[in-house]
This record gives sequence, C-alpha cells and structure tokens, in this order.
Amino acid sequence: MVRSSEKVDILTTALVEQAPRSKRSKWTTLKLVTLFASLFAVAFLHDNFHYGKFLSAVSSGHGVAKLCPQSDTLYPKSHARLWKSLGRDFDEDAFTTRAVAWLGGAVRIPTESYDDMGPVGEDERWEAFEPFHDYLVRSFPLTHKSLTLIKVNTYGLLYEWKGSDNTLKPLLLAAHQDVVPVEPETVDQWEYPPYSGYYDGKFIWGRGSSDDKSGLIGILASIETLLEKEFKPARTIVLAFGFDEETSGLQGAQHLSDAMLQKYGQDSFALLVDEGSTYGDIGGSIIAIPGIAEKGYLDTRVKVSTSGGHSSVPPAHTSIGILSRLLVEYEANPIEPHLERGTPIYSTIQCVGQYGKNLPAHLRALVKTSVHSDRALRKLEAELIKDLTYSALIGTTQAIDLVQGGVKANALPEEAWAVINQRIATQSSVAVVQQRDTDVLKHLAKEFNLTYTAFGLAISAEDGPTAGTLTLTDAFSTALEPAPVTPFDEDSAPWQLLSGTIKATYNAHRGLNSEDNIFVSPGIMTGNTDTRYYWNLTRHIVRYNHQDGGNGHSLPNGIHTVNEHIPANNFVEMIRFFSTLILNADESREI
Ligand SMILES: *[C@@H]1O[C@H](CO)[C@@H](O)[C@H](O)[C@H]1NC(C)=O
Ligand SMILES: *[C@@H]1O[C@H](CO)[C@@H](O)[C@H](O)[C@H]1NC(C)=O
Repeated sequence: MVRSSEKVDILTTALVEQAPRSKRSKWTTLKLVTLFASLFAVAFLHDNFHYGKFLSAVSSGHGVAKLCPQSDTLYPKSHARLWKSLGRDFDEDAFTTRAVAWLGGAVRIPTESYDDMGPVGEDERWEAFEPFHDYLVRSFPLTHKSLTLIKVNTYGLLYEWKGSDNTLKPLLLAAHQDVVPVEPETVDQWEYPPYSGYYDGKFIWGRGSSDDKSGLIGILASIETLLEKEFKPARTIVLAFGFDEETSGLQGAQHLSDAMLQKYGQDSFALLVDEGSTYGDIGGSIIAIPGIAEKGYLDTRVKVSTSGGHSSVPPAHTSIGILSRLLVEYEANPIEPHLERGTPIYSTIQCVGQYGKNLPAHLRALVKTSVHSDRALRKLEAELIKDLTYSALIGTTQAIDLVQGGVKANALPEEAWAVINQRIATQSSVAVVQQRDTDVLKHLAKEFNLTYTAFGLAISAEDGPTAGTLTLTDAFSTALEPAPVTPFDEDSAPWQLLSGTIKATYNAHRGLNSEDNIFVSPGIMTGNTDTRYYWNLTRHIVRYNHQDGGNGHSLPNGIHTVNEHIPANNFVEMIRFFSTLILNADESREI
C-alpha cells in the first residue's frame, strides 16, 4: 500500500513551504477588512454565492467549524468500566512487553508475497503462511477457542466472533498477513536483520513491523485482551486477513470477499476498517486522516504495428519512431488536475485549512473563501498543483513506465509498445480516461495512416493503403474504478463513530479530557488496499488503524524499504484504538 505516514509529512511541508515568503507578513485589520470587502465583491458575482454561508464561513467562531465538522469524542458508556480497566492495563510496562513479544514473533516468520506467484496449490512459496498460522494459534489461545475460523483459499483467514444480537450488522476488521519481500542485496543496510523482530527498548524492527503485521497483531491482541476480561459482544465482529495484498489481492482478499458475500450478503457490515492513513502533525495541529476514497487505476498499452523488412530500404517512420511521437503527445497533453468542491481531497484541504495552525494566512484565506468563490477555488488549485503530491491527489496522473520494440539492429521493428500507468482521480472513471487516451492520439493515427482500435472499438480505418495499426488496450486487465466514497457527513453514523473513537483513543493515552486535541479529516489514498474487493460488503469503508505518522520515529519508518520499524508505544496505541472501536461499535445502535 502507498503509505500514509510519508504522506502526512508531505501534506504538511507542501502546504507550509510553498507559500511565498513575501505573503507571510502579518495582516493588519485594515488589510483584513479590505480583503473581506474585495472577496465579498468577487464572490457576489458568482451564481453559487450564498450570503449567509459566506458570513458564517468568514466570521470567527462556530460558523467556521462547518468547513470541517468534527464529531464529539466518543467514550464507551455501558462498557465504561471495562474500557477503563483495559486502559490501565495498556498503560503498564508489562503490557508493552507482551505487545512487543506478540508483534516481534509475527515479524520473525517471513511471509513474503511476490508479483509472479502462481495460484495457491501450485506455487510452493505460499506454504510460508503455514508457520504463521501456527504462530497465531499459539499466541492467541482464547481467540482461537472463542472465535470460529474459516480458511479461505487455504491461507485467507476469516474469523467470526459471534454477537448475542443478530439484528446488529457486524463490524469488519481487515489486515493482511503478507509483507513486501526484502531485497537480498539490501540486507546489510538494515540496522537489525529484517526478520529479527528485534526490540531495542523503543522500537520493534523488521519487515512487516508496521505494514501490516502491526494491524493484524493489533486486532488479535485487542480481541485476546477483551476475551481475558470476559467481554461478550452483542455485535458480531468479523476479521478478514488476506495474504497477497502487496501483490494483487487476487488469491486472498478476492476469495475472502466471495466467502463473506456468501455468508453475510451484500451491504451486510456496519463498518469496515482496514490499514491505511495515519495521524500526525499537519501544519501545527494533530490531524487524523482516515482514507475514505481510493484513486482508480488503468495501465494503457499503446501498440504500433507496421510491416517489417530490411532496414536498408526503410520507410520514413518505423513503428518505434511512430510510437515515440505518440508518447511525446501523451506527455505534452497530461490530464489537467482540477480541484472540485465535493471531492474527498477538497474536504481534506478544508480540514487542513481549518485546523492547520501554521498555514500561511493567504492560503488559509483561499481555502475558506473557495467554498463560495470560484475565483478563490481556481487560485487555490493553482497554488496546490505546484506541489506534485497535491497534484497527484487532486487529478488523474500518468507515467510512461514500460517501453519495448525491435529485435535486431538491421531489421525494421514490426511492433513497438509502451505502457502508461494512470491513477484515476476520485471524481473521474476508467471510461473517461480511456476516452481521453483514445482522443489524444486520434489525429496522429490519421497523420501516420494507421488503422486505429482502442479498447476493443474501431476508431478509424484508413480508406487508402494503411501504414499499419495502432491499438490501445488495458495492458494487464487490471483497470480499477476509483473506490466509492465513504459517507463522511454529519449524518453518517459509522464515520461519526470512527472519528469519536479516534479522539477517545488519543485522549486516553495522554490523560486528556478536553475536546479538540486531535482533529479528524477525511483522506484519500493514492494506492489501493485489500478493500478494493470489499465494496459490495458495505458503503462504510475506512482505511485507518491509528498509526502515528509523524512522531516517535528515529528514521523514516522504512515501509517497503530497509529499516522498517514501529515504536512499541505506538503499537500499544493501535491496540487501544481497536479495543475502543470494538466497544463503541458494540454499544452503538446508530450503525
Ligand atoms: C499517409 O498517406 C498519404 C496518402 O497516401 C500520404 O500522402 C502520406 O505521406 C502518408 N503519411 C505518412 C506519415 O506516411
Ligand atoms: C459488486 O457487485 C457488482 C454486481 O454484482 C459486480 O459487478 C462488481 O464487480 C462487484 N464489485 C466488487 C468490487 O466486488
């Protein structure tokens, strides 16, 4: 999964650093008045301007909060005693020792998944998951006594903790067992061997310590602890642990999804929480950004075929020459990113604008006025897309990542192709991007006299003699629509429950009981998790497991590279988060 902790940092730096120095001067009252007056004048000219909303947006105080509405902190009530008792345990050193042992042991069993793996049953490398399963059974005895476990496609783990009230929709917690392979030539760059699970008194080291064995072991640790306290759920809890998230999810999550659809049905879960974004310091405030959307995906193969022959009597353009011209056309005409109201990234920006205390004033003002003023929206867009991260979060990206053609220095190439990797904006679709890919090359197909077929449709056939063919296809049949956006408004009870739980978890750790120590903002994932197979199980999918994205790391946290590690303290907080979530979901009759 494309990771989150880096993302928080980038979001912050991007917003804070890109402000021109000259505009950072303190504003005088006069300037403010002038600004508001001119904004008002500009805004008034637009159709979508609402005076009332404008006033509440610019006036200080309650109205402003509407830009990024916050839920109340949600503490377990009927389970208050149990929750407090758990909290005392989590604060003990003895619990940290236990948590470290649980996670360290899981890291010590390598469960690598590779891009070229064959199906389960054929490829022996999957057998690496057997000792991992044995480890889970040994380490979480009560869980394996009290929950039912079905193995799906041999290595997919589907647990059910049956609740007493079957009118309540179950809570689904997801994580993945597999890890990204360690490159053998990088082993000596690790501070501690990658499968050591070494604990240095502060950090647990090793591949999977963060992504995503912390999530998987965090969930099981929370359930084991709740069982030790004799908790009996009213609401059923289901756990789905895939085993090839880092490659495709085809063997794991796809099968798990079928099994769950069969057992529970469509739209059968109250809330699904999977790995994803983190919380951290964004522009001077602690903000959690649970992922409520994922970008879509399309690899377009552009293939040019021409007749071959000896290269001593060549035509003006070979298939490689033509392909090169087509690729230049692509890069000269990227899809422009457009910031649109109502999109997930716009909501993120609203929250950062609202609560990021260190944002340059002019950016903050743009964020706020962009709600009503199209002019401010365009200006904000222009500021944000200067930064590649924002640009990628806002729009559809493209990157020419593969190219091939020709077999011999003295033979004309009969075929040349390239693959363009495209990540589709949440408000766009596979069809829109395919249409754009098709259109951008149309005039060149004509110019080069090529018969043009795109995604199975005949686009143009030359009347005269054709010089060859141009074909666009979904290169690996991996096209993926942007994920449905999880409802996150004030009426969305699952989102409110999750937000309130994040706040309660954060406060409990620090002994705080006031509001507004951490803010919650909807976020968007540029990568995909196993949830891509789970859309039909619930509309309420959140990618978040309360990892601390900013603080406590000695180095970059090493996800997908060398020196992956997690602070033990943060891991305990993940366990507190899952426990609080389970208890809050158990009590709620709103979700
Ligand atoms: C395409 O065909 C036309 C008509 O046969 C010819 O004049 C032109 O040169 C061709 N274009 C290329 C790039 O070969
Ligand atoms: C959801 O269900 C529809 C209709 O059965 C199906 O076409 C689609 O592929 C499913 N989506 C996912 C992500 O499983």
